[in-house]
Amino acid sequence: MSACSGGGGGTTATPPSTSSNSVTSGTTSPVGSVDSTALERVVPEPSNITAAAGTFTLTGAAAIHASPGAEPVAADLAACIKQQTGLAPQSTPSINATIQLVLQPTGGDASLGTEGYTLAITPTSVTLTAATDAGLFHGVQTIRQLLIGAKLQAGTITDRPRFAYRGVMLDVARHFYSVADVKAYIDAAALYKVNEFHLHLSDDQGWRFTVPGWPKLATVGGASQVGGGPGGYYTAAELKEIVGYAASRYLTVIPEIDMPGHVGAAVSAYPTLACDGRHHGPVTTASPGYDALCTTSESTYRFVDSATEAAADATPGPYLHLGGDEAQALDLTQYDAFIQRAQNLVASHGRTPIAWAEAGTAPLLPQTVLEYWNTAQPQPYVTQAADRGTKLIMAPGNHAYLDQQPTPDFPLGLHWAGYTPVSKAYDWDPVTVLPGIGPSSVLGVEAPLWSETVKSLKDAETLAFPRLPAIAEIGWSTPNTHNWPKFSQRLADQGPLWDKLGIAYYKSPEVPWGQG
Ligand code: ACM
Repeated sequence: MSACSGGGGGTTATPPSTSSNSVTSGTTSPVGSVDSTALERVVPEPSNITAAAGTFTLTGAAAIHASPGAEPVAADLAACIKQQTGLAPQSTPSINATIQLVLQPTGGDASLGTEGYTLAITPTSVTLTAATDAGLFHGVQTIRQLLIGAKLQAGTITDRPRFAYRGVMLDVARHFYSVADVKAYIDAAALYKVNEFHLHLSDDQGWRFTVPGWPKLATVGGASQVGGGPGGYYTAAELKEIVGYAASRYLTVIPEIDMPGHVGAAVSAYPTLACDGRHHGPVTTASPGYDALCTTSESTYRFVDSATEAAADATPGPYLHLGGDEAQALDLTQYDAFIQRAQNLVASHGRTPIAWAEAGTAPLLPQTVLEYWNTAQPQPYVTQAADRGTKLIMAPGNHAYLDQQPTPDFPLGLHWAGYTPVSKAYDWDPVTVLPGIGPSSVLGVEAPLWSETVKSLKDAETLAFPRLPAIAEIGWSTPNTHNWPKFSQRLADQGPLWDKLGIAYYKSPEVPWGQG
């Protein structure tokens, strides 16, 4: 049986007392009752919602039929229903089952793309249809959010994402997180149809994975963290475990090795990686150490080759992030030369390079993707790269950075990009946030969580919720759904689910908690 995602700290509910031995699992609520608001609680907002009369009520007799290939997602749905309602639907070969998961690779609704789904709820049946198992999985997240007790309002939802790339980033370098904590963060993101998991694996304060031939990266570079705690690192097997877990939740891991700046941990392990062996590491404060790789040394590129190869070996996804931000210790000629060679090495390991937007000063490979973050500085080279065809991931620090404090008195986070209340996290559009960028340049959005102040999973969740769902909605939903009063109400509707799942969150006064 699959575990239900999003349930790291959750408890299993007891079955509702209405559960019966009835052989029909659907019961009809009073004829003519169309409660459209009961379907309008899903985050991200679906593309189309049509409410119908009645409700579907789960009972102990409910059974799930999965068409060939849909079995793993059906098992996940069963686990989620058990977690939320205490009822344990069995799988059944009967195509007359009350709950149907239909994988329809051909002949379905082509307009739903590779991640869309259709969910049809009647008083007697629930039918989830998609062309891919990812689409079915996203539909399961919708069902989880729609369940009120053991009931689902009747109606039809058709849904597909606006952007192909909907990411979150976790900085495991400034503070290290156990594999279990990383899995729980993945679970919480999956509930909001996020499909990319960017893992920031190295920085001044820590190097967090093993690289064959360079053992001290992990054992020396990984031995501390902000505040001087013991830090840690993932073995190749642990990194693969994270990758496999993310894949089971339909997220692709994007490893990041941050270079040529933010390398204090690497340089403290191998001082010859810096020109003249100069370095500030190991860094245990929150501020960047301003170390840099020696861009004119061939051993630097042997290191980059080994590290990118190890990251590529552990992560089968198409992308590998090479960092590229804030390389203050280098001049532009050194920096651009490094970026060119680093992106070629990433490409030589079969991965599409991603780099923070500063890398736009260098001549880029056609496939290299830039990640836009720094809204404080004009970066004309980003728009120029986009004009030449470079795709962009939008992670504007003043909207999408989950580590920015929502208010001045918030006990976690920083505020160098400004205070970011929930309404501000929601108040932007990826295709207009950077003037001069056309919609076709935008691959999608990302919500990074930098961890200088983030010591635990609970801290991470408290900063991420409810703003992570806001960024997920910016990535999934069409702009015509954009409406803060309605969105804040839909966020409020998520609160009881987070309580049940054990997800810590910030009870922002902007959100009408408890009135939904
Ligand atoms: C960044 O926030 N330095 C990418």
